[in-house]
Amino acid sequence: MRRLRPGAGVLRRPRGDEDARRFRRHRQQRRPRPADAAGVDHPEIFHKVFDVNVGGTLWGIQAAIEAFTAQGHGGKIINACSQAGHLGNPGLAVYGGSKFAIRGITQTAARDLADRGITVNGFCPGIVDTPMMRGIAQQTADEAGKPFEWGMQQFAQNIALGRLSQPDDVASCVSYLAGPDSDYMTGQSLLIDGGMVYS
Ligand SMILES: NC(=O)c1ccc[n+]([C@@H]2O[C@H](COP(=O)([O-])OP(=O)(O)OC[C@H]3O[C@@H](n4cnc5c(N)ncnc54)[C@H](O)[C@@H]3O)[C@@H](O)[C@H]2O)c1
Repeated sequence: MRRLRPGAGVLRRPRGDEDARRFRRHRQQRRPRPADAAGVDHPEIFHKVFDVNVGGTLWGIQAAIEAFTAQGHGGKIINACSQAGHLGNPGLAVYGGSKFAIRGITQTAARDLADRGITVNGFCPGIVDTPMMRGIAQQTADEAGKPFEWGMQQFAQNIALGRLSQPDDVASCVSYLAGPDSDYMTGQSLLIDGGMVYS
């Protein structure tokens, strides 16, 4: 099995591109109907998103435990959550539900693994300027018949710091969670969103 170094839980399989493609495909295929107001989604979308986001988190934690145990030490597991794991976002029931699940798994795993010297935390970005987010902004702009910049601006307007997050903003948070300064922290899902959700 691939050996992970302490803190490598964050390096498990990323899945943003696939998420973005799914959102675009889903929005293209379906227009809102009354039943969708409750966030009811296609079973296929639900299973895919939960398999990737929730399953990926669970299997990643298991792989990290095996690796830490084989190496004879504790470690740090860092899960990719989201501000959507703290607050329900309109129209994002499935994605948000999967991120709430990640926050719950983070808390549970933190308590389960503490006696092995393993901490488990998560990071919760807001709106990060990544290919995934650009895809969603382009989709929003296309649907409104507006330029791409307008689409990005729609997501920036509720951020207290007045700008989208850059990947480095999030990397700094992850670096903190991976380093010794966070040794006394476990079970937390840290918001790094420029001021969108206040906990
Ligand atoms: N971008 C945001 O605004 C935002 C906000 C909150 C949470 N998040 C979360 O952050 C995570 C990453 O999102 P992102 O915006 O960076 O996505 P992204 O699609 O922009 O980037 C994902 C990266 O992972 C790589 N990747 C995809 N599948 C892979 C695989 N199977 N193996 C190896 N590499 C693979 C892609 O090549 C890409 O470089 C996701 O869990 C997402 O839900 C993103």
